[in-house]
This record gives sequence, structure tokens and C-alpha cells, in this order.
Amino acid sequence: MNKNPTAEQTDAPPRVVFQTVNITKTYQMGEVQVHALRGVDLELYEGEFVVMLGPSGSGKSTLLNILGGLDAPSSGTVHYEDHDLSTFKDSVLTRYRRDHVGFVFQFYNLIPSLTARENVALVTEISAHPLAPDEALKLVQLDERMDHFPAQLSGGEQQRVAIARAIAKRPNVLLCDEPTGALDIKTGIVVLEALAKVNRELGTTTVVITHNVAIAEMADRVFNLSDGKIANVKVNTHKKSPNELSW
Ligand SMILES: Nc1ncnc2c1ncn2[C@@H]1O[C@H](COP(=O)(O)OP(=O)(O)OP(=O)(O)O)[C@@H](O)[C@H]1O
Ligand SMILES: [Mg+2]
Repeated sequence: MNKNPTAEQTDAPPRVVFQTVNITKTYQMGEVQVHALRGVDLELYEGEFVVMLGPSGSGKSTLLNILGGLDAPSSGTVHYEDHDLSTFKDSVLTRYRRDHVGFVFQFYNLIPSLTARENVALVTEISAHPLAPDEALKLVQLDERMDHFPAQLSGGEQQRVAIARAIAKRPNVLLCDEPTGALDIKTGIVVLEALAKVNRELGTTTVVITHNVAIAEMADRVFNLSDGKIANVKVNTHKKSPNELSW
């Protein structure tokens, strides 16, 4: 099963999942205004794998947090499907995040006193149509490690538990902020393989922020941010699989 429209080369135009129009984000720091986003227009398509690159401070995390409903823009609009996220109240944003979005961050934020399976089960217990925790862990190739505690797992394994936890509720969107930032190359590739597999098999629209230019080669599209704007978007006609990447 491949729900990825850019990879499938179907005639139908790809379906837009996210649309932002001229979003800005300004932080007021005492007397000083920090312009984190200066007018971002983007569309994200159903099932695509997007990599976001850009220097430190260019606005990547700010943009990802706005797409994920963790933060609101100062101006402009953000649509997810038919919903205008920019008009949502906190309670509705919480519901949106719970029902539709999976997050993966650089640090795994697992609960140390719970096993891998129990960490994933925390999420599946409050979701409407979850994967079974075992199934989610199997998808990231951790079936042998389900009863291990985080301290008994390597960094890459812990990150894969975090991915299993994020995808167990079957989110439509998976937003990842430097998911391999704390990992060495070999472990990073295993984690990227897990993300590629989830994208391929569940059709989850996936956005990965990274400083690592090599990772861009596995994306359908690459967004380059610079100074709070999207400087350019590149379409990869031949995307590489993670094990072909080197850095
Ligand atoms: N809560 C905040 N309060 C004030 N300024 C902020 C806040 N969050 C981000 N900023 C500023 O907004 C700009 C964009 O930050 P952002 O975290 O989005 O960058 P980034 O591209 O993710 O950088 P990095 O690669 O270092 O993670 C930076 O100048 C940052 O200092
Ligand atoms: Mg960041």
C-alpha cells in the first residue's frame, strides 16, 4: 500500500492537508520584537514526506509548532483539512493535536518507570482508533524489546519507542523536530527507516526538521527556510531510501 501521491504518479492532483497563507510569528521580548516567521505560504500534500532545512533561528520549530497546534501565528491563516486552526480555541486545539497529530522530538521523553509497551499504551488508551501497542512497536522493529525499560534501550531504540508512541493513535500527520539530532549516523538511519516505513505503510503525512542536508535526499519535497521565510522548495524525482544516505 502506498498512499503517497507524489510517489504514485497518479493523474489526480495531490490532496492538500495543510495550507498556510502569509503566516507570521512575532515574539515580544521586552522592548525587542523577534520576527520568527515573516510570511510563510505553504501547502502540504496527503501522504508526502517533507524535510525542512535551514540555519538555526530560521523559524523551523516555530512553523512546525504552528502546524501541530502547539502555537498560534501572530497573523495569517493555517488550515488543516477544512479546519481553520488559526481560529481554534485552546480546547479545540488540544482535541486537534490528540486526534490528528503525532510529535517526535530530539529527546524522547519516555516515562522511565514504564516499559516500551506501557509507554505506547499510555497513548493508545486515550485514542479512538489506535494500533495495538505491540503492532506499533513491531512497525518500528522493536518487537523483541517491548518489555524493556527506557534505561535498558539504546538512544535509537528509545527514539523508535517514541515514534511508535506517536504513530499508535494513527495520526494523519507526523511532525518530527530533529528526530536524529542526538544519534550517531548508524542509529540515525535506523530511526529514519522507521519514519519512512510509517509514511509508506500508514500513509502518514510526515514533516522532518533536520540540520543534516543528507537526510533531504529521502524526502518527496525539501523546504529551505531562511530568516523566517521559505527560501525555496525542491522536489526530489528520485528519493533515496535511508540506507543509501551517508553523512
Ligand atoms: N518562545 C520564544 N520567545 C522568544 N523568541 C523565540 C521563542 N521561540 C523562538 N524564538 C525566536 O524565533 C526565532 C526562530 O526560532 P525557531 O526555534 O523556530 O528556530 P529554528 O529554525 O527551529 O532553530 P534551531 O535550528 O536552532 O532549532 C529565533 O530567533 C528564536 O530565538
Ligand atoms: Mg528548532
